[in-house]
Amino acid sequence: MPEENLSQLAPNLSLAYRRLQRDWILNRWLPKPSDLVPGTRMPSFDQETIANTAASIHLTGEPREMTEALVDYVLSLGAPTTNVPTPTAKTESAKAAD
Ligand code: HEM
Repeated sequence: MPEENLSQLAPNLSLAYRRLQRDWILNRWLPKPSDLVPGTRMPSFDQETIANTAASIHLTGEPREMTEALVDYVLSLGAPTTNVPTPTAKTESAKAAD
């Protein structure tokens, strides 16, 4: 598929965390995308696809664990960072600017 524009090959998943539920991705979408979108080119996440995908991103483990790690990664994309404590101490330069 060298002629294809890669940016149009699959959707940008950076907003997935806002719209998709983890359980739905894992149990409805990934096992067989064509059940939900007939004719889609997204592959079903069978053992072989999971293994190939995991190998390409250096994930190891049980298929279920690797799939969950992948989904957690996708859901982390673009998500606001939570639980980052607000600093209370001030640097010298911040004090000087007060
Ligand atoms: C983990 C969460 C993922 C979600 C929520 C997701 C979602 C989607 C969606 C909504 C589409 C468009 C379906 C359509 O309209 O035909 C799509 C297409 C596709 N996805 Fe995924 N995907 C995920 C992971 C992956 C992974 C890991 C791979 C690689 C193994 C993959 C490969 C593809 C491919 C090849 C297409 C077809 C693009 C095309 O038809 O041009 N996806 N995906």
